[in-house]
Amino acid sequence: MTAEAALRKYLKASQTRIEAELDRVLPHATTQPERLHSAMRYVTLGGGKRVRAVLVYAAGQALNLPPETLAAPACAVELIHAYSLVHDDLPAMDNDGLRRGKPTCHIKFDEATAILTGDSLQSLAFKVLCQDHTLQTHAEKRIEMIETLAVASGSRGMAGGQAMDLEAVGRELNLAQLENMHIHKTGALIRASVRLGVLSTPECTADEARAMDRYAKCIGLAFQVQDDILDVSGNTETLGKTGGKDQASQKPTYTSLLGLDEARRMARRLCDQATASLENLDEKADPLRWLAGYIVKRSH
Ligand code: IPE
Ligand code: IPE
Ligand code: MG
Ligand code: MG
Ligand code: MG
Repeated sequence: MTAEAALRKYLKASQTRIEAELDRVLPHATTQPERLHSAMRYVTLGGGKRVRAVLVYAAGQALNLPPETLAAPACAVELIHAYSLVHDDLPAMDNDGLRRGKPTCHIKFDEATAILTGDSLQSLAFKVLCQDHTLQTHAEKRIEMIETLAVASGSRGMAGGQAMDLEAVGRELNLAQLENMHIHKTGALIRASVRLGVLSTPECTADEARAMDRYAKCIGLAFQVQDDILDVSGNTETLGKTGGKDQASQKPTYTSLLGLDEARRMARRLCDQATASLENLDEKADPLRWLAGYIVKRSH
């Protein structure tokens, strides 16, 4: 099997798995309050590439963990991510009408429901990490996982990066400032996804943990560089979200600062650095290697 075919197969299997797990942990749409629960399911199920969950699985697999034992962290990162997208699309933020090929939460439902949907998905992520029965780890490890996700999603992580993004509208950032914004708004949660996989087993050496963290930092930044590239070069139908939004909203991005070609070279370089970080890991880390390539080659 080619690496490309192996990646497709791995992605598909992991996506099917996480879809079922998210369906399991989300409250049923008929549970009161029905509108809120319907909205939570609407924005979480049936879409998205599931890169963050797949990274939890792939990091775990590199350390011999079967995916059944990774359901809780995989769900938790996807719930936080889904919440971040709902709020990112709100009129007060990016004011977007299309997400994953469907109307955004505030369009399909209403703005107040979208705010509460984000709030509730965030709380659910932590509840899952606290009490999901599939997580077979002792309390101390669980607390470390909760802390990892809390830091990555809060003001020193994703939410902080989103604040920098809003402050940067209409301004020119230098490369260091842009990188700082991207590693917070997108990199932090991707880095946490790999870390949560690592934390799921006691069988991880300090060297392995360091290697995977270096990998995760590189792909976290590469992911947003590619997102910036796709905003310019992709079309709305393939993306499932409105293309050309960054320029229209005067957002500084890797393409606005470096141009498309240099941004593409940078994404490639980060992918190579990520893969090089894994040189001492065996073939069980191959899914992580495939994912690094996927992140910078993806078309949506
Ligand atoms: C989009 O994330 C927002 C960013 C953080 C760049 P994804 O590209 O992972 O979105 P989905 O989950 O596949 O829809
Ligand atoms: C979003 O970045 C990062 C998040 C934390 C959600 P973007 O605003 O570029 O994401 P898209 O392009 O709307 O998916
Ligand atoms: Mg945004
Ligand atoms: Mg946006
Ligand atoms: Mg974008």
